[in-house]
Amino acid sequence: MVSFGLTEEQQSLKEIAARFAVDKIRPVAAALDERSEFPSALIKEGHSLGLINLTLPAELGGSGLGLFDACLVIEEIAWGCSGFATSMVANDLALTPIRIGATEDQKKRFLEPVITSGQLASFCLTEPGAGSDAAGLQTTVEDGGDCWILNGSKQWITNAGHASQYTVFATHDRTKRAKGISCFVVPRSTPGIEVGHHENKMGQRCSDTCRVTFDNVRVPKDHLIGAQGEGFKIAMQTLDASRPLTAAIAVGIGRAALEHAVAYSKERKQFGNAISSFQGIQFMLADMATGVEASRMLTWRSAWLLDQGKTASIESSMAKRLSADTAMSVATDAVQIYGGYGYTKEYPVEKLMRDAKLLQIYEGTSQVQRIVIARELLK
Ligand code: CAA
Repeated sequence: MVSFGLTEEQQSLKEIAARFAVDKIRPVAAALDERSEFPSALIKEGHSLGLINLTLPAELGGSGLGLFDACLVIEEIAWGCSGFATSMVANDLALTPIRIGATEDQKKRFLEPVITSGQLASFCLTEPGAGSDAAGLQTTVEDGGDCWILNGSKQWITNAGHASQYTVFATHDRTKRAKGISCFVVPRSTPGIEVGHHENKMGQRCSDTCRVTFDNVRVPKDHLIGAQGEGFKIAMQTLDASRPLTAAIAVGIGRAALEHAVAYSKERKQFGNAISSFQGIQFMLADMATGVEASRMLTWRSAWLLDQGKTASIESSMAKRLSADTAMSVATDAVQIYGGYGYTKEYPVEKLMRDAKLLQIYEGTSQVQRIVIARELLK
């Protein structure tokens, strides 16, 4: 049976997230953006409401939600501020490799303390020279006898400045590309780790993005997640599961931009009439609304498939691709409808346009999503 209706539990979950977004996030979003300030206190509040670690197991302190339900929450939070939503989703992203690849004992040691105490974690895959080509990463791991030794740099790492634990992908042998990569849990307190400055980004400015450098970092042997050489697959499976959440962030931005544009078009008068009475504006609004709705449907479907235990690389890439590109075009059109006012910081839509741009870049660019989709089609 196909149903697009939400259960009572899903409605109330969505309402809790919406209330938090309306009461707590929206009122401070512009100021956090202006100051490029990480919302530590609000993140703690979100944690106490169960709005963080959404997809992590309830028995280890997570919210234990399926991806579909998590997407409902994340759309609301991103409607409030996508930088805030990114900070929240980054914890699921960082901890999912452990959920996927770790032993039960490792899950207890590496998930429960972080989740229950409200600490943050970071997913460390991308490097200065390896973004889209993730298998080309250069951070090395050597067998140091009683430990692993990590050397290299990770770039654009979300939450890095505030995280207590890193999930790091490193190679035993660069010539082996994907097959040489393993996954490790690295506590932030380990000697040899240096965290760079909070990047001064165009959008999503309240999310914390830093470089992390590993200089002869010694990691206990039992911090290896999964088998040696399995790290790349764990990373790809993690991204498959995370892309619907990122797509939901894009849907939240698109919806916010559409709502602002509809409201403003009814207020703004030109040629003696509200601009909403002009077909040129109506067609823009109609296309914006259609794009947001289509993005939400693909996002929900990819999340639902993953919740059924199905492989959904193609669907999550489609959801991420369409939602990100739609968020960008809808936010750009919202600025257009506001005209000159939309181009100023006095109105909310220029922030949405800056925020949306990042959706087309992080967690796999829109071009990488097309690579994943095309490969599956041509298999
Ligand atoms: N699930 C399971 N296994 C997978 C997989 C998946 N989804 N995708 C690939 N693999 C396996 C392949 O089967 C292959 O294994 P075998 O050789 O045993 O068959 C192995 O992994 C290597 O795969 P490929 O040959 O496809 O590897 P590639 O180098 O050609 O990868 C790519 C190409 C898909 C573009 C990949 O590099 C990619 O996804 N790049 C984008 C990386 C990305 O999204 N980075 C975002 C970082 S996170 C971030 O931005 C978050 C943040 O902090 C905001």
